[in-house]
Amino acid sequence: MRITVIGCGYLGAVHAACMAKLGHDVTGIDVDEAKIAALSAARAPFYEPGLEELLDDVQATGRLSFTSDMSAAAGSAVHFVCVGTPQKKGENAADLTYVDAAVTALLPYLSSGDLVVGKSTVPVGTAGRLAQLVQAQNPSVHLVWNPEFLREGHAVADTLQPDRFVYGVTDGSEDHPAVAVLDAVYSTPLASGTPRLVTDHPTAELVKTAANSFLATKISFINAMAELCEAAGADVTRLADAIGMDDRIGRKFLNAGIGFGGGCLPKDIRAFMARAGELGADQALTFLREVDAINMRRRTRVVELTRELCDGSLLGQRITVLGAAFKPESDDVRDSPALSIAAQLQLQGAVVTVTDPKALSNAARRFPELHYEPDTDKAVENADALLVLTEWQEYVQLDPYALSGLVASTRVLDGRNILDPGKWRSAGWSYRGMGRP
Ligand code: UDX
Repeated sequence: MRITVIGCGYLGAVHAACMAKLGHDVTGIDVDEAKIAALSAARAPFYEPGLEELLDDVQATGRLSFTSDMSAAAGSAVHFVCVGTPQKKGENAADLTYVDAAVTALLPYLSSGDLVVGKSTVPVGTAGRLAQLVQAQNPSVHLVWNPEFLREGHAVADTLQPDRFVYGVTDGSEDHPAVAVLDAVYSTPLASGTPRLVTDHPTAELVKTAANSFLATKISFINAMAELCEAAGADVTRLADAIGMDDRIGRKFLNAGIGFGGGCLPKDIRAFMARAGELGADQALTFLREVDAINMRRRTRVVELTRELCDGSLLGQRITVLGAAFKPESDDVRDSPALSIAAQLQLQGAVVTVTDPKALSNAARRFPELHYEPDTDKAVENADALLVLTEWQEYVQLDPYALSGLVASTRVLDGRNILDPGKWRSAGWSYRGMGRP
């Protein structure tokens, strides 16, 4: 099948490569020429495990190409819309400029029977509005809302073998003609048992925001428990293990630490609250305000704990922050709690060095005022305290004995509760975790 993917960011680039892997002829379209040049040379414009190998693999088959020219969409049967929906500046609401621009630019190239498939995370009601726009152009073109649930760092596997497909169609019916077309696109994962659920447009849009809100709530719940554990002298990691053994709760997404960040959860819960307000249902989501507040308190708490660790003053303390990305196996620093903490520490007089295996160039663009050092050993040299803020495997495996010869003071704050406190304390370190005695 001939497919276009509009928007080649974290979502679209992976989606385009994966659709080609499934055997389709795919054209990726993006307004960013630099991104197109990189992807055309089979280089991923961001770090995502397995993506570059996949680009290499599928481009050799001739089934994948990239362009900044929207007219290349003509002749494709299915057009995926994968552009970003960032938070509006100074507001909670989502900025739909890119989605609207993508669909408007696509309109002249649509032919009868084409399918426009929205994958971006949008406020409920957007699909209905876009469907009207598309159908005004050509009544035989249908619009499906097909939210994407991929996690950065696992994006390729999540796209090729998702947990589920959700199709939102105008009448919510399995018999809608768009269903068979999308089934043909996803025939390989469907044949291997991936469940799919057909529903109406607003439900499909809400599935995505509800899922992300639930995940954010789960993380803030355990971070609230971490606050209590800190007050009561209990250990939140053992508490999470114990409550997570209840199948109804589950252990996943119960890691207390420095809170959630990234390009999705923080802005999605805010956009959801904004949209609920517009719909007159703001009371239903007031709890998300608390979820957001608990999350932001974690960052302040790390600064307080660092001050305590440094005997009450941050002034002139050389602090090394290990981790800049919002999560491991990613170079994404959008709303990264690690960088926001690093910036707060520096503002309060600390001398901060940040290291990360992949995210330093993105970090330097967002926070040019911070000092960066790619080499872990050099970054920790003469430090008065280490802060582990992203759980990269190489930080999990840090050797406290070897490090104690490099630092000025053996103090460590484990923002992700990934280090073994017993081991670090035996090696002579003052260890502080999150929500642990
Ligand atoms: C999220 C959703 O998981 C995904 O389904 C959706 O499509 C996009 O948003 P992503 O942003 O890639 O994916 O990262 P995720 O793995 O969900 O982590 C989000 C944040 O939560 C990270 O900052 C992570 O460190 C934090 N987190 C996650 C915790 O603090 N504790 C946990 O237990 C889990």
